[in-house]
Amino acid sequence: MAGSLEKSKAGRWLAPGRVNLIGEHTDYNDGFVLPLALPMGVTCTAAVRPDGTVRLRSRQAPRDGVEIALCALAAAGWSELPAWAHYPLGVISEFVRRGHELPGVELELDGDLPMGAGLSSSAALSCAVAIALRDLFAPSVSAAEIIDMARTAENVYVGVPTGILDQSAAMLCTAGHVLFLDVRTRAYEQIPFDLKRFGLSLLVFDTGSSHRLVDGEYARRRAECATAAVELGVPFLRDATAGQVGRLADPVLRRRARHVVSENARVLRVAEKLRGGGDPRQIGPELSAGHASLRDDFEVSAPQLDTAVAAALVAGAYGARMVGGGFGGSMIALVDSGRADGVVRTVRDAFARRRFAVPRSFAVTPAAGARRIE
Ligand code: GLA
Repeated sequence: MAGSLEKSKAGRWLAPGRVNLIGEHTDYNDGFVLPLALPMGVTCTAAVRPDGTVRLRSRQAPRDGVEIALCALAAAGWSELPAWAHYPLGVISEFVRRGHELPGVELELDGDLPMGAGLSSSAALSCAVAIALRDLFAPSVSAAEIIDMARTAENVYVGVPTGILDQSAAMLCTAGHVLFLDVRTRAYEQIPFDLKRFGLSLLVFDTGSSHRLVDGEYARRRAECATAAVELGVPFLRDATAGQVGRLADPVLRRRARHVVSENARVLRVAEKLRGGGDPRQIGPELSAGHASLRDDFEVSAPQLDTAVAAALVAGAYGARMVGGGFGGSMIALVDSGRADGVVRTVRDAFARRRFAVPRSFAVTPAAGARRIE
């Protein structure tokens, strides 16, 4: 049960969810991303156990606790373990595989981030666990290693071939900024994103439509991008130009590559516009163009996302787009704060007309990255 850990031995860590302002499906193409951390996230209360066992509990799945001996982790039949537990166990396995000593640990997870909403609850979970392990057992582990461990947990132990966008956002974002990250070099820059100063709000709509990256479509997109890069003779699509992409014979590969190349260019333009504290209104058209590209060229949108984007724009949003891997999940809209209620109403009305479930919506400001909170 959450709350049962002895206070004296325990600490509490938090990793946030994220929305990506722009730069979708560019991370595994060695490109650019521009996320911000959400005020919501996953917390991990952790305490040392001296007995070589791992004990996991989640507030969101109170009946699905796990207790397992560390030495049994590698051989365990993970398919019998609850799906959520694969993330923390993946992080623990990776931590041990990298040579860190772990005498045993007890973890209690909780969170206020909607799961499966495209807001990166998986990476928040993995990163919260990873920083707890770091602080308790291996304080010299770097943020870059945490990002790799959390990503490996998802790639290898959960089986989704994601890039490093979500884990980097959880670890590196800072309050008041968007994180401009060059995935190839891992160089990053904090760019001010002060919405209040400009009378703006960034609304998030969780459309409630399913967002299941494990289904294979994400992996297929990734494979298509790799094939397109091979056909173009470049290491990654990051290295391709719009002119080269036009010469791809296969129309599907051409569309996929066009998305990646145009999206990377959008990230660079948005970053440039925001640097030095420029008015975020200017980036609206780039956000909407990004959505059109994900819908038409990358084909990862969903009817709920398209409906929400169209309705938000009709109601006066400067720009709107789906966020995350797609196939459902959430979208963002950049709006004048005075118009936020009207935009929410218009999106809800559009959903009601199409008999979609009522979307959950909230305004976000850029929050801090993963940290110890108790
Ligand atoms: C998911 C993945 C990320 C990234 C996005 C799309 O969130 O976890 O690595 O590929 O989709 O931008």
